Amino acid sequence: MPGDIRNTSASETTKEGWLKKLRYLIPEPLRRWLNLRLRPKIERKLLVFDRVTDWSVLRRLTPYRGDLGGRRGKYIDRFYIERFLATYRDFIRGNVAEMQRDEYASLFGGGAVTRLEILDISEQNEHRTMAVDLTQTARAPEDIFDCIICTQTLFLIQDYVSAIRTLYKLLLPGGVALVTVPGICPTIRGSLVAGAGEDWWRFTGRSAQLEFAQVFGNENVVVQTYGNVLSTTAFLHGLVQEELTEEELEYRDADYEVLIGVRAIKQGAR
Ligand SMILES: C[S@@+](CC[C@H](N)C(=O)[O-])C[C@H]1O[C@@H](n2cnc3c(N)ncnc32)[C@H](O)[C@@H]1O
Repeated sequence: MPGDIRNTSASETTKEGWLKKLRYLIPEPLRRWLNLRLRPKIERKLLVFDRVTDWSVLRRLTPYRGDLGGRRGKYIDRFYIERFLATYRDFIRGNVAEMQRDEYASLFGGGAVTRLEILDISEQNEHRTMAVDLTQTARAPEDIFDCIICTQTLFLIQDYVSAIRTLYKLLLPGGVALVTVPGICPTIRGSLVAGAGEDWWRFTGRSAQLEFAQVFGNENVVVQTYGNVLSTTAFLHGLVQEELTEEELEYRDADYEVLIGVRAIKQGAR
């Protein structure tokens, strides 16, 4: 109903109650297996039933979908991360490092990546090949990577200035850091944080340029921002890429920064 800002109807509550009761008829190990293996796939198929076409459903006090909508499809900010990395894919080569896991290095670098290290502070990360605390610049090794892919990480690090210095130190002269940070975005909590850190910061294109310029030099930093009022609204409500057209996602309005991408080069000969 347009103008109705209540979020949960009585019938929805009853439905949830029945679903909860039904859950307990399934034995616990099978339930866990179903949750792990099938649920994400099934939930994504359900997009067809709650795809947002009439935006009046967004007139509500809580997001249309929680967890940024990831259960229904691809996060909107990931569209922009991929656009950014595709722009600079020629830099993803040689000795490459990526934070947390190989999400983008192989995808965009392909055969040009001759060695890949996965960096993380977290001991729980089974993909980690190199333990690094980005805030501990003095302890970090120097001049080892041609490229570091550091997506959606700096906003989780309280001392992000030291983290930028560490990225600089880890790079070979001529090496490049490809960094993304969220701009307009809900506060990230719980499992969405994925690893160590807490949601501390939001950057703007301008502040990202300033912070990286202080370490890499202004002439070595290029900042690109992504988003528009439509994709921002969609993202905040947990709508997913599949609900917007490519044209709608692509349109860039500098006043609506969903994602900020930074390409920073460590000056010096290769
Ligand atoms: C949310 S993930 C982002 C990377 C992921 N590939 C992505 O694009 O979503 C952030 C990662 O940074 C790690 N991290 C947090 N603080 C760190 C620090 N001080 N030094 C190194 N890694 C850190 C976390 O453990 C986590 O693996």
